[in-house]
Amino acid sequence: MNIVLGVTGGIAAYKAAHIVRILKEAGHSVRVVPTESALRFVGAPTWEALSGQAVQTDVFTRVEDVEHVLIGQEADLVLIAPATADSLARIRAGIADDLLTATVLTTTAPVVVAPAMHTEMWFNPATVDNVIVLRSRGVHVLEPASGRLTGADSGPGRLPEPQEIVDFALSVHREAAAQSASGLLAGRRVFISAGGTREPLDPVRFLGNRSSGKQGAALAAAAHRAGAEVCLASANIDSSILASLPTGIDIREVETTAQLESVCREQAAQADIVIMAAAVADYRPAQTAGHKMKKDGDAGLTIELVQNPDILAGLVENRREGQTIVGFAAETGSPETSAAEMARQKIVRKRCDLLVFNDVSGGKTFGHDTTSVEVLALTDTGAVGLGDFTGDKADVSVSVMDTIAKHAVE
Ligand code: CTP
Repeated sequence: MNIVLGVTGGIAAYKAAHIVRILKEAGHSVRVVPTESALRFVGAPTWEALSGQAVQTDVFTRVEDVEHVLIGQEADLVLIAPATADSLARIRAGIADDLLTATVLTTTAPVVVAPAMHTEMWFNPATVDNVIVLRSRGVHVLEPASGRLTGADSGPGRLPEPQEIVDFALSVHREAAAQSASGLLAGRRVFISAGGTREPLDPVRFLGNRSSGKQGAALAAAAHRAGAEVCLASANIDSSILASLPTGIDIREVETTAQLESVCREQAAQADIVIMAAAVADYRPAQTAGHKMKKDGDAGLTIELVQNPDILAGLVENRREGQTIVGFAAETGSPETSAAEMARQKIVRKRCDLLVFNDVSGGKTFGHDTTSVEVLALTDTGAVGLGDFTGDKADVSVSVMDTIAKHAVE
């Protein structure tokens, strides 16, 4: 997601460099917006090198891009760390005389503020009042930690550890996204297939794929939170992932493509939204040995494969009136065609309403906790992008489910 990191002029500004690093490593795009005084503590080259994006403090640079409005509008989350007593007062007053305060005024994204200052400043009635007002307006103000301050003194006012700030900020975003989707799917039935099918060669071996099912399971959780009645077909998803799901989700465990197909047919007949997130094996062995296969001397082994049915194609063929069908595509691209182009071709070929496209070139994504996806919609003229989402799989799933839900209820 697009995160704006505002840095204001306090000694703890150096800790914000670590925040940039943590967010970037989690796959987020980070735009650092320091104040003039923050740059006296840590210079622009540090922020630019860490974030990979240009840094400016005033509203008169790159005026043609209307950045003082654009940065706030495009943000999914605005985090200010450290926030000085002065910056809290300025935000409370609605001042907009630099890029950071203008961004705070224009954004509709959640705003998280991590104050850091001397204890006396933190307890000063002016600051206490500013924090009360900001919180009443929905700004999420993190309590400062207690401990060693700039000089020899110590007490409340210390900037919490970078990881703690990031965890708090991301949980605020997750909560806000869930809230925006909450109730959106009330009374709707959502069917999701997830994981990867396995085709047995013999009683101990199978042909399978590397899909963990994490993203499909997170989608099921997000649909459940949005008020839907959810059925999840779990193709070999680890039990620890299934155990972490909210109760109330109807889980059907399957192993093979044939088993998945039968659950999909049955469930899709009653669902308003069908999401095929499972990685389905396109082929299965023509024969499955009834006993463990033995090596045959030094000879190699040829396995004959037969094609599995395309479950999604069958669902599209039998689509119910008003039903939204969502396909998934994990593409690596080829030397001739980019992964994004392949996804666009796939939605046209598969004729599903939406396609969640995952770029898996270079081994990205499988089994990881972070992901980067684009949601495509099929229109009369081809594919159009509805949004790009990057970050923790749980967060991305909330945003993807929100996009699917809004498209389905339109
Ligand atoms: N899918 C399916 N049945 C199959 C294969 C795929 O239902 N036998 C579904 C997947 O769940 C996913 C979508 O189709 O939602 C795209 O899957 P993918 O493996 O990318 O599609 P393929 O048709 O196998 O495309 P290709 O091999 O041409 O990339």
